[in-house]
Amino acid sequence: MKRTPVRITLIQGSPREESYSSRLCQEVLRGCQEEARSRNVDLIETLVRPSDKDIQACIACFHCDRTGECIFRDDMPELIKLFDNSDLVLLASPIFFNGFPSTVKKMIDRCQPIWASKYMLDRPIIDREKRRLGLIIGCGGAPEYEDQFTALKTVGKMFFKTINCKLIAERTLANTDNLNLDQEEQLRQEYFQQGQKLMEKYLLPDN
Ligand SMILES: Cc1cc2nc3c(=O)[nH]c(=O)nc-3n(C[C@H](O)[C@H](O)[C@H](O)COP(=O)(O)O)c2cc1C
Repeated sequence: MKRTPVRITLIQGSPREESYSSRLCQEVLRGCQEEARSRNVDLIETLVRPSDKDIQACIACFHCDRTGECIFRDDMPELIKLFDNSDLVLLASPIFFNGFPSTVKKMIDRCQPIWASKYMLDRPIIDREKRRLGLIIGCGGAPEYEDQFTALKTVGKMFFKTINCKLIAERTLANTDNLNLDQEEQLRQEYFQQGQKLMEKYLLPDN
């Protein structure tokens, strides 16, 4: 008998089509697909590119503190529903000035209604009990330096906590401006295996 499909959401933070972080994200997805196929489970995949979405920047009006809703009617309410319904969430992004690109940060800031609904209103707008697993993939173009990914990890962790998604790994890669992924077979394999591991962890929670 077929099992319930697994809903996976891929947030590709790069504004570029053929981007490094997006390609690594696709390797992880391939690993997830392979593991799901071997266990006879269907995947429902949704790709989100924040740079293509209509997302207003939060203006700190605190309407959500009182109501659990945002004053803006753009793509964010749909995205919040999507996060709520996701079983797996991959957040792949380059770093710009050590942090998320502004398009990704706008999306994260606009999760404030989730935060307010849980911690201020005690009327959560997402299911806090639902089991979700997540992964961060971060790319930095420069050779490795101190604190290169500190901000990305700190903000990313807070995003996953807000959407009640258990972060199982943060994979960061420096020097991507000087690495040709087509020639990095082993690297691609590592990300593929990370996807397999993620799916296995989701499907076999007791292992
Ligand atoms: C506006 C901007 C700021 C950047 N800032 C940093 C940085 O602070 N540190 C770093 O290592 N790379 C930085 N980079 C390089 C990108 O992280 C790098 O090119 C990355 O591989 C792009 O990822 P993508 O291919 O997924 O778009 C910056 C690039 C841009 C466009």
